[in-house]
Amino acid sequence: MKILYVSSECRPFIKTGGLGDVAGSLPQKIKEIGEDIRVVLPLYSSIEKQYKDKMKFIKDIKVQLSWRSAYCGIFELEYENITYYFIDNEQYFKRNNIYGEYDDGERFAFFSKACLDILPNIDFLPDVINCNDWQTGLVPVYLKLNFYNNDFYRNIKTVFTIHNIAYQGIYNRDILENVFDINSFHFYNGTVENDGLINIMKAAIVLSDKVMTVSETYAQEIKTDYYGEGLNHILNIHADKLVGILNGIDFDYFNPETDEHIFKKYSVKTLENKVQNKKGLLKLCGLDSKKDVPVIGIISRLVSHKGLDLIEAVINEIASSDVKIIILGQGEWKYENMFINLEKEYPSKVSTHIAFSDDLAKKMYAGCDMLLMPSKSEPCGIAQMIAMRYGTVPIVRETGGLYDTVKPLIKENNTGNGFTFKNYNAHDMLHVIREACYIYTNEKDTWKDLMERCMTCDNSWNASAQKYLDIYKSLL
Ligand code: GLC
Repeated sequence: MKILYVSSECRPFIKTGGLGDVAGSLPQKIKEIGEDIRVVLPLYSSIEKQYKDKMKFIKDIKVQLSWRSAYCGIFELEYENITYYFIDNEQYFKRNNIYGEYDDGERFAFFSKACLDILPNIDFLPDVINCNDWQTGLVPVYLKLNFYNNDFYRNIKTVFTIHNIAYQGIYNRDILENVFDINSFHFYNGTVENDGLINIMKAAIVLSDKVMTVSETYAQEIKTDYYGEGLNHILNIHADKLVGILNGIDFDYFNPETDEHIFKKYSVKTLENKVQNKKGLLKLCGLDSKKDVPVIGIISRLVSHKGLDLIEAVINEIASSDVKIIILGQGEWKYENMFINLEKEYPSKVSTHIAFSDDLAKKMYAGCDMLLMPSKSEPCGIAQMIAMRYGTVPIVRETGGLYDTVKPLIKENNTGNGFTFKNYNAHDMLHVIREACYIYTNEKDTWKDLMERCMTCDNSWNASAQKYLDIYKSLL
């Protein structure tokens, strides 16, 4: 079977969040199973030279959208057994940021159209195209609206994966024809329209053959008002094609037994070595390790849906107890500032890193005792799974993929792999943080069992990749 996986980011080339991790690991697993899966990405100027140097130029074509006929260079790279295609156009992708540019709509319309236009030129006719999030949501749209009478494209099926319904690609109706090259007919009949505006995610939901999201619980949640971000009605109409499959993590890349980034390697059998990572991390962060207090890590994009308002509400209560807190992330100014100020106020307890660093992240996964993820919504969440792999116990709100992967500790039965709370309420969160800290400090055996259960959870891609494949096959 031939699959084209289309994404706006992909580790190790370019990554801002969880989508980059998924695109960098799911195709590998599907390839290992034995299918011909290839990946397409924009050739951003920020991709490292070491990769660019190895890319092979195939050819250039013109991609037409409305009156614009844009240059499109096609590059190919074989990397770790996968064929990657990179779409080159410096006007669109030689930028400081990969998202958040004034013309994102036009940039990703170009990319989506290019993904289809390159196919005859790379001699690859996929059975299925798997797109991800709104940035590639126009792929099924162009396929159905522009290519319906083209024999080459006739049998291609599309899967649209929603990684986060909060980002939909919403634009003013004025640019429909000019920028997106879509006839107003499809606006007035509601296909690409939501609340009077162009909505790319909605169009992708309507026109894809299958709509997926990244956990079973999130697939249910987004059909409700609270989580649906205004698209719940349309997901209910298309409920028969909506499926939730939990993401996995790359068990080779995230492996405390082999990880070169961490201070001391360890496994579930040599858990005593984890403490070296804690010491190393504290030292690196300028925090002392004389007294053994729990270290809580937060590794997150610093945006509202990550539940940072809950932390803000009880921040002083958390920080004034016997804990240390290490924060790593970037995002909205308000939250960056909140954590910078917290470090100023509690310099011996808090260490804030406004950055994006795989290296520090891994040191934190290995060196913290707990990872806090109080998300308001969390389609899947990857950090909690990585934390568990490193024996770091997650404290999460019961939503989306957090609910599907973290089960609360029940001491009597010796079950559970973390601490959870249900309501989006700061004091409920505080209560479970205190419970976790209490057990860490006073019930060492329970804590050790908990760590072991975390480390033996199978959150690898093995099961999920097969489920993806079953979905692809069901479309043929
Ligand atoms: C988005 C979601 C996150 C998910 C990731 C990968 O970043 O917010 O929950 O894990 O995509 O699917």
